[in-house]
Amino acid sequence: MRRTTIADLHTRYHTGERLTMVTAYDYTAARLIDRTTIPLILVGDSLGMVIQGHDSTLPVTVDDIVYHTRAVIRGTTTPLVVADLPFLSYATPDEALHHAGQLIATGGAQSVKLEGGTTVEHTIRHLVNAGIPVMGHVGFTPQSVHSIGLCVQGKDALRAAQVYRDALAVQRAGAWAVVLELIPGPLAAAITDRLDIPTIGIGAGPHCNGEVQVWHDILGLYDDFQPRHTHRFATLGTTIIDALTTYDTAVRNHTFPTTDNCAHLDPDTLTAALNAVDTTPPTAEDH
Ligand code: KIV
Repeated sequence: MRRTTIADLHTRYHTGERLTMVTAYDYTAARLIDRTTIPLILVGDSLGMVIQGHDSTLPVTVDDIVYHTRAVIRGTTTPLVVADLPFLSYATPDEALHHAGQLIATGGAQSVKLEGGTTVEHTIRHLVNAGIPVMGHVGFTPQSVHSIGLCVQGKDALRAAQVYRDALAVQRAGAWAVVLELIPGPLAAAITDRLDIPTIGIGAGPHCNGEVQVWHDILGLYDDFQPRHTHRFATLGTTIIDALTTYDTAVRNHTFPTTDNCAHLDPDTLTAALNAVDTTPPTAEDH
C-alpha cells in the first residue's frame, strides 16, 4: 500500500466519490484509521481543546502540530495527512512558508491547512508557488472565534456572499480543497456546485464533496455535550469508563493481576537470589 496523493483524491472527486476525513493526534489513533478506507487525516489545531484542554485553538503552537503530526505519520501508511497551521503562524506569507515548511519537512505532513479566504489569498498562493499543497478553510474559522463568535456563518445575503467570495479566493490561490465549516447547507451546496476543487464540510450539510469530523466527537469520547454538526458513531467514553471501573474493582478484589500476568521464577533460583543478598545493615565503618 502506498500513501494517498492529492492526485488520487482529485480522481475520486471527479468520479463523484465522497472524501472522508477525520482528525487524529496520536500514533494509536492513526494506526486504527490506517486499517479503514478513510483517505484523509487532519492533525487539527482542535488538539488545543481535545488534547490540551484549552477552551479554544488559539494556544496551539507550530511545535505542537509538528509533534502530533510526527506521531500520526508513524502510525499511517495510506491516508494523506494534512496539518493545521496554528494561530499567528501565517501572519505574513514568509512566516507561513517557514512554518508550513516545518509541518511538511519535520512533521512529515503531505499538506497544510489554513483558515481564511480573501485575506489569505496571497499567502496561499505564496505556499502553493513554493510547492506546498494547501487546503483552505472558510465559513466558521475557529482561530477567529473572538471576532466572529462560535456560530453559523453566512446566514444573511451579505455574509453568505462573503463566504462564497472566500471560497473562490482559496480556489484562485491554488488550494487543492477547501473546508466549509458551520455554514447553511444550501450555501455549501451552491459553493460546492460552483467550485472546481473538493469541498470538505463540517456543519455544512450533506452536499459537500466530503466531510471532516473530530475524532472525539464521532467516537463519543465526550458524553456531556454533542454539537448539532456531529454524530456519535460509538460511545467509547462510556465503554472506557466501564472498563476502568472493572479494572479498579479487579485490583481491589485481588482478581487482577494473577500469576498468569507475570513471569515465573523457580523456587531454587529465588532462594539462591535471596541468600546471595547480605541484609545486615551497613555500619559506620562501611561508609
Ligand atoms: O482543527 C480542526 O479539527 C479543524 C476541523 C474542525 C476542520 O480545523
